[in-house]
Amino acid sequence: MTDLVHLTQQGDVAVITINNLPVNALGPGVIEGLAQALRQAEADKRASAVVIIGGGRTFVAGADIHEFQRVMSGEAPRTEGLLSLLPAIEACTKPVVMAIHGNAFGGGLELALAGHYRVATPDAQVGQPEVKLGLIPGAGGTQRLPRLAGVALAVEMCATGNPISAAQALKAGILDRLIEGDLLAGAIAFAREVIGKPRPKARDRSEKLGTPETNAPIFAAARDAAQKKQRGWKSPQVAIELVEAATRLPFEEGLKLEQARFRECLFSDQSKALVHVFFGEREVAKVPDIPKETPALPVNSVGVVGAGTMGGGIAMVFANAGIPVLLREVDQAALDRGMANIQKNYATSVQRGRFTQQFVEERLRLIKPTLAFDSFADVDMVVEAVFEGMALKKEVFAQLDKVCRPGAILASNTSTLSIDEIASATARPDAVIGTHFFSPANVMRLLEIVRGKATGKQTIATCMQVAKRVGKVGVLVGNCRGFVGNRMFHPYRREAQFLVEEGANPEAVDQALYDFGMAMGALATGDLAGLDVGWRIRKEYRHLERPGVRQPLTEDRLCEMGRYGQKTGAGWYKYDEKRRAIPDPEVTQLVRRWAAEAGIEQRKITPAEIVDRCIFALVNEGARILEEGIALRAVDIDIIYLNGYGFPAYRGGPMWYADTVGLKKVYGRICEFRERHGELWDPAPLLQQLAETGGTFAAFRKPQTAAA
Ligand code: COA
Repeated sequence: MTDLVHLTQQGDVAVITINNLPVNALGPGVIEGLAQALRQAEADKRASAVVIIGGGRTFVAGADIHEFQRVMSGEAPRTEGLLSLLPAIEACTKPVVMAIHGNAFGGGLELALAGHYRVATPDAQVGQPEVKLGLIPGAGGTQRLPRLAGVALAVEMCATGNPISAAQALKAGILDRLIEGDLLAGAIAFAREVIGKPRPKARDRSEKLGTPETNAPIFAAARDAAQKKQRGWKSPQVAIELVEAATRLPFEEGLKLEQARFRECLFSDQSKALVHVFFGEREVAKVPDIPKETPALPVNSVGVVGAGTMGGGIAMVFANAGIPVLLREVDQAALDRGMANIQKNYATSVQRGRFTQQFVEERLRLIKPTLAFDSFADVDMVVEAVFEGMALKKEVFAQLDKVCRPGAILASNTSTLSIDEIASATARPDAVIGTHFFSPANVMRLLEIVRGKATGKQTIATCMQVAKRVGKVGVLVGNCRGFVGNRMFHPYRREAQFLVEEGANPEAVDQALYDFGMAMGALATGDLAGLDVGWRIRKEYRHLERPGVRQPLTEDRLCEMGRYGQKTGAGWYKYDEKRRAIPDPEVTQLVRRWAAEAGIEQRKITPAEIVDRCIFALVNEGARILEEGIALRAVDIDIIYLNGYGFPAYRGGPMWYADTVGLKKVYGRICEFRERHGELWDPAPLLQQLAETGGTFAAFRKPQTAAA
């Protein structure tokens, strides 16, 4: 037996414990160890039943995703996988009881489904999350689960990847009993009850497989939901196909089909990208020069300055995590408006079933409106979310520095301004940091954490931890104009506008980007955020524009006409009362006129060019950001774009996408754009270097990386 699996005897019950911490992934050694332990238990006359349980905090979180990565990159598998183990469990002549705590996910649930019985702690969860990795269950999950849980639940679990609670699993027939108190003792007692009883196998059951008539609407609805909610993802559609196959094929044939589809998924670009995202989300939490042990400061109360859209959303973020918030505005009317907005947002969440009324009432009690800065004297952290202007920000920070206790962290929600300059208004620059939330702050998962040159490690460690606590993906970035996300977004949106000015219709530009997988087109995004926001920033920075370098014309002119986007009912598009975008021929006509006046040549533009121009503009700027050390790794940029800018996860983020296309090809295309459109398309030196040496962004590390 391997070290990863232990066999002990508890009276007449053999207990097999999986010990591959932290999450008991089924990597090399585990499956072999399980097979060996099972053989021994079967041969041991003292044992009349077998319990399989996970050591540590969970049952089994699935197959080892690192192993998938190795196989994806062409290496031979180091483990046979579950396929030969599971029939051996089913065929065991002694009842096998699976004892589940924590999670039985992916291969973990497939392992459990092969047992004759399953018991679990009430707080356990079971799920088939493989689709989130671009995969499908590959060890019988799509065939056994519908036989145990019924078609509707099985298809939902396999296609969405969302887990269900132990209580739901019990109700559905996936579990046989919930065990309060000691799981192992309960599982052993249960095993004793079933000694000598039949040993049911999921594979033999068919009573829950429905009929073609009852199943047809279930599969149609699942396909429809997958198309809407997981647009562009291949794995959910494959998972649905396989559950459907379970309803019409004999078990073994279903398994064969599952295997074939699993392999197709495993070697797909989508799966590679999504596995990159899985590890990426965890990697961004690791900052090379700030070890995990760096002590974080306790944050038990927070002040938020500014009760506008962002400030209100940020207050909700902290309140939702149970952290009391003082919300400050300059006058009572603004404060009342801010609180009313928060209440309205919460009411919508209750209506949509996201929160209960009781939860909302508790959260609202945690948000205390105030007009007085002095009330911030005792808070542990302040997030400033006032209007985007340096003079105002500095004034606020100078005041915060005076009223807040020494040691309190002062964070700015600025989306573009220099953290160093803001910090210079205080006597505690080590405690000043950027926490750039994305709108709507209570919904979007991304938090860019901006490190100024004086920001202390403890301040950073604290903010990274706070991000996790409030359910955000915190990504540490360096201080520069626009940081990572907005700095890259600028050339992306610039190209979208140029394309319109060169002859594409606004809706054609947005459609091409939407079809590429972006949550929204670049122009519609501008309308949503408010075109006036960029207009104001451009006015502030106009003096930095290089003379003679082409600038987009249209948005400034739309703003001059009062077309700020959704909030004024018109921008690039017209909007109806439900804020649905309607193409506006007037805009196209105006742009044609402005373009003619500016002497911009008009031509036919293909969707492929639209995608390359916009996405490679992102990539080129991303390469500079990487080279400058503003982002620690390419994956940090990817995670920012997936969580803050609606980049499709199945493409892995802009930098991963570029690696997938091939940097040589990307570089070549950028050189073509340079020829045609001039210096805005100067290729980033890092891109050129990697293209010439066959490197990738994913593998690139700047020596001494530090986002400072
Ligand atoms: N294979 C390999 N490593 C895994 C893993 C798996 N199936 N599941 C988790 N890990 C690793 C994580 O990468 C992380 O490693 P790190 O500490 O080096 O960064 C560590 O285990 C802990 O995981 P983490 O996600 O940080 O812990 P958590 O408590 O927040 O969440 C889970 C635990 C199980 C809910 C979560 O890890 C998860 O969803 N895992 C994947 C499940 C899955 O998709 N299974 C199907 C595989 S086909």
